[in-house]
Amino acid sequence: MKKNILITGGAGFIGSHVVRLFVKKYPDYRIINLDALTYAGNLENLKEVEKEANYIFEKGDITDEKLVSALFVQYNFDGVIHLAAESHVDRSIAEPMAFIKTNVFGTVNLLNAAKESWKGKYEGKRFYHISTDEVYGALEKDGTFFTENTKYAPHSPYSASKASSDHFVRAYQDTYGLPVVISNCSNNYGANHFPEKLIPLCINNIKNKKPIPVYGKGENVRDWLWVEDHARAIDIIFHNGKDGETYNIGGNNEWTNIDLIRLLCKIMDKKLGRVQGESEKLITFVTDRAGHDLRYAIDASKLNRELGWKPSLQFEQGLEKTVDWYLANEQWLINVINGQYQQYYQKQYGNR
Ligand code: NAD
Ligand code: DAU
Repeated sequence: MKKNILITGGAGFIGSHVVRLFVKKYPDYRIINLDALTYAGNLENLKEVEKEANYIFEKGDITDEKLVSALFVQYNFDGVIHLAAESHVDRSIAEPMAFIKTNVFGTVNLLNAAKESWKGKYEGKRFYHISTDEVYGALEKDGTFFTENTKYAPHSPYSASKASSDHFVRAYQDTYGLPVVISNCSNNYGANHFPEKLIPLCINNIKNKKPIPVYGKGENVRDWLWVEDHARAIDIIFHNGKDGETYNIGGNNEWTNIDLIRLLCKIMDKKLGRVQGESEKLITFVTDRAGHDLRYAIDASKLNRELGWKPSLQFEQGLEKTVDWYLANEQWLINVINGQYQQYYQKQYGNR
């Protein structure tokens, strides 16, 4: 094997796309996926690659100091792509401590293990931290964008924990010379998205004719990117990004929540053979999220200019593909809703 790569959070939404991409595209890399299998981790996402010779699953927590150090000794990682996190803003408002533990402590634990294992011999090593546009705070509806130089101004416990982890990553570069790279991405959508997040939640509710909860007036704006385009950007940045740099990743694709939901209703009516307008009747305005950021919008021109990345899909096309995936993979959704997906580890790996 040419390289041993640690991917954390590989059983989650984005992580599973990254693991699949790397396992298939780089047969000479050994991909070690470290994931605690919280409620958000789903090994069914990785069925396609679980038997591949260059893939290893390690069930474990990134906050476990002994385990993480032992894995660095066992595999002598050349690179780390760190995605494991508590990722849902609403959960961070209800239970902030889990976010501090995983997103802050867990990240520092990984940085420390990398520093100790690599001991200043950094040639060919890279620690890649996956972050979010939410660290920059909120924009007005004034046409401005987040750039890599925008000042951090997080508002939710989730974004504050991610901002903190970003600062630690930079501190390890500045203090110990650890070769790090960070990317901050906008909202992802696509297959394998956990149905607590807006798009899969709406797909599930529309399918089952349940109310679609729209926070506030639905006027908040998000910049949506197809998850496979994010995974492709991660591949490019991991291989070609410069140490110490930050890259913004975004879809240049802003939608108010209400417009997005209306579009989704139209697509679903068509796919489910319903009369146009039927699903829109499910829209229900509910109490707004506390501290709800008004608008996110990413300027991804640096990534385009320096590394040649750009999104590949139009949103309407991507959303239709996403709906098709959820309708074709009904059992995936059923297993998540009824909790069956949490039995998958035991079934595949026994009492390891
Ligand atoms: P997710 O919630 O779907 O998956 C997170 C994964 O991390 C799960 O498999 C979970 O089991 C694992 N995990 C959680 N705590 C862990 C711990 N303590 N130890 C080991 N594993 C643990 O998240 P996602 O949406 O795929 O996001 C992945 C990363 O990308 C996160 O760092 C997130 O902040 C960032 N991000 C997400 C988006 C988005 O739109 N989803 C956008 C930009 C950045
Ligand atoms: O911007 C990147 C971030 O995008 C990531 O860092 C986060 O991990 C990811 O969860 C996502 O955060 P958001 O809070 O933007 O995503 P969410 O799907 O929770 O909500 C999208 C928008 O929809 C937001 O304005 C809140 C609104 N919403 C959400 C839910 C779940 C609703 O109106 N109703 C809902 O039921």
